[in-house]
Amino acid sequence: MRILFIGDVVGRTGREAVASRLPALRSQLRIDLAVVNAENASHGFGLSPEMAKMLLAAGADVITLGNHAWDRKEIIPYFAETDRVIRPLNYPPGTPGGGSVVVTLSDGRRAVVLNAMGRLFMDPLDCPFRGTAAELARHRLGVTVQAIVADFHAEASSEKMAYGHSFDGQVSLVVGTHTHCPTADAQILPNGTAYLTDVGMSGDYDSVIGMAKEGAATRFWRKLPGERLAPAEGEATVCGVYVETDDRTGLAVRIEPVRIGGRLAPAMPERP
Ligand SMILES: [Fe+2]
Ligand SMILES: [Fe+2]
Repeated sequence: MRILFIGDVVGRTGREAVASRLPALRSQLRIDLAVVNAENASHGFGLSPEMAKMLLAAGADVITLGNHAWDRKEIIPYFAETDRVIRPLNYPPGTPGGGSVVVTLSDGRRAVVLNAMGRLFMDPLDCPFRGTAAELARHRLGVTVQAIVADFHAEASSEKMAYGHSFDGQVSLVVGTHTHCPTADAQILPNGTAYLTDVGMSGDYDSVIGMAKEGAATRFWRKLPGERLAPAEGEATVCGVYVETDDRTGLAVRIEPVRIGGRLAPAMPERP
């Protein structure tokens, strides 16, 4: 299975870049499953149903979220309309929405996408490790589903690496989101799980993690509440990761970064 995961869409520039690039990326890389983290799509904070529909129409099979899941309240009733937008699974029981979804591809293959959130330097939630283990107990990789993608939305690289190794061999891909800076450690772990500590954001990198740099820096210089942060609006770099798996095992055989447009050095898999 050919999987594309695109990192945190930030603001209008991120939305427009992902929506305009995704159709060509899907065909060029012959993508079977595309997942987009869109927790920052709405002016940096949350995701509206209209934006979700736009990203799904552009070719996202599943949209994941994170700590900004609830910033646009309109997403809550929308969870009842679609199972293709998921939020971290380790929110307390009774929280709206789901933390995972099973997607059936047009050729009948099945994939699970799940979203979990870390707890180090983040709001306290239920345990993401135990929550993920409980979700994985419902599936058998390579038997009941051909691929499992885990978006681990977390601040600390240590927690992300611990999570990746914990589920090595049980999922196809563990990809980190939330820090908005792509890391250079894409690899296949010893038991066959593709891993990347952070995929990076899809936004303007002439910024402080996607937000206009002047206001963001002032917050560090002065301990006064500054003006409301707004997204930087220059050309976005679309940041993602490309993974190929073996359907018989569900494990990864290839992982490569994808970066297009904007300020970051480009990256694109050759001969997919
Ligand atoms: Fe984010
Ligand atoms: Fe986040």
